[in-house]
Amino acid sequence: MIGMSPSKSLVSSNGDERMDQIPRRREVPRGNSKGTAVVTGASSGIGRVYAERLARRGHDLILVARDRPQLEALAIRLAHETGRCIETETADLSDKGDLTRIEALLSSDPKVSLLVNNAGVGAPASLLDSDAGELARMVDVNVTAVMRLTRALLPQFLSRGSGAFINIGSILGIAPEVENAVYGGTKAFVLAFSLALHKEFAQRGIHFQAVLPRQNNMGANDLVDAALIGFDGGEVVTIPSLPDVSDWEGDEVARQHRMPNRSLRGPGARYRSAPADIAGTASKPHGREPEESAHL
Ligand SMILES: NC(=O)c1ccc[n+]([C@@H]2O[C@H](COP(=O)([O-])OP(=O)(O)OC[C@H]3O[C@@H](n4cnc5c(N)ncnc54)[C@H](OP(=O)(O)O)[C@@H]3O)[C@@H](O)[C@H]2O)c1
Repeated sequence: MIGMSPSKSLVSSNGDERMDQIPRRREVPRGNSKGTAVVTGASSGIGRVYAERLARRGHDLILVARDRPQLEALAIRLAHETGRCIETETADLSDKGDLTRIEALLSSDPKVSLLVNNAGVGAPASLLDSDAGELARMVDVNVTAVMRLTRALLPQFLSRGSGAFINIGSILGIAPEVENAVYGGTKAFVLAFSLALHKEFAQRGIHFQAVLPRQNNMGANDLVDAALIGFDGGEVVTIPSLPDVSDWEGDEVARQHRMPNRSLRGPGARYRSAPADIAGTASKPHGREPEESAHL
């Protein structure tokens, strides 16, 4: 049992679970694999469907979540049904030690070609009605784990000039006022992170897709199938239920249009004179001289 981690298991294409053979895992025949896809939060919901779809597309898989029995049952079934090599990694992504272990695994595995950052936690109550520790753990899973796992994989993707990330955000990332403010904030991060990295790395062969579902409005099967069509089409942002893509593109056009005006050296004209009732007290909006806004 030397070298075996209690948190991982391997299922070969004949479905045999081989907990004691981890050091030999790369020797499992994989014929025609599209590379390994890592799916976080694969034990249920959207992540589970991604695992199924990606195995059927020819990916070997590394499935990550806390619920080991669910992960292993899925791995055994998918290995039987698809002939792919499926590994499971039991990990709590809000736990520093577990996250570090998964980072190390990803950064040292040259077969990984796709990471689906899907694991996520919601918040049923508002900021004041939520436990601060729970919210911090949500940030750990929804933000920190996404950032760290992406960062762990990027160097090897860049060195071979290919690789892809599918980051599961939420429509609440662009409509944060609808539910818990922290959840919306974490999903705004996922969108911003994906857009920024797309800009930085698309020319070097790395694809980023942010998927923005809306809670409970669509079954996971339909959602993932739609998102994968968007992925295949090279979309950077996919809103699975959006009937008319020009609605999103219009937002993008407006955003890009604002871009040059957001970092001028002086304030907008409406901030150049104080409202009558506070005249004399606000001649320097927020105490800044116009020149100081040059780098905002
Ligand atoms: N369903 C929707 O309509 C919808 C809408 C908007 C956004 N989303 C986003 O889609 C993603 C998946 O959501 P879902 O609806 O499929 O939810 P779900 O069924 O509750 O699945 C969440 C997954 O994340 C994993 N997870 C949660 N905390 C974790 C932790 N600390 N460490 C490791 N894994 C953890 C869970 O596995 P374990 O419990 O086994 O750890 C589970 O596999 C999330 O990012 C969510 O925010 C979903």
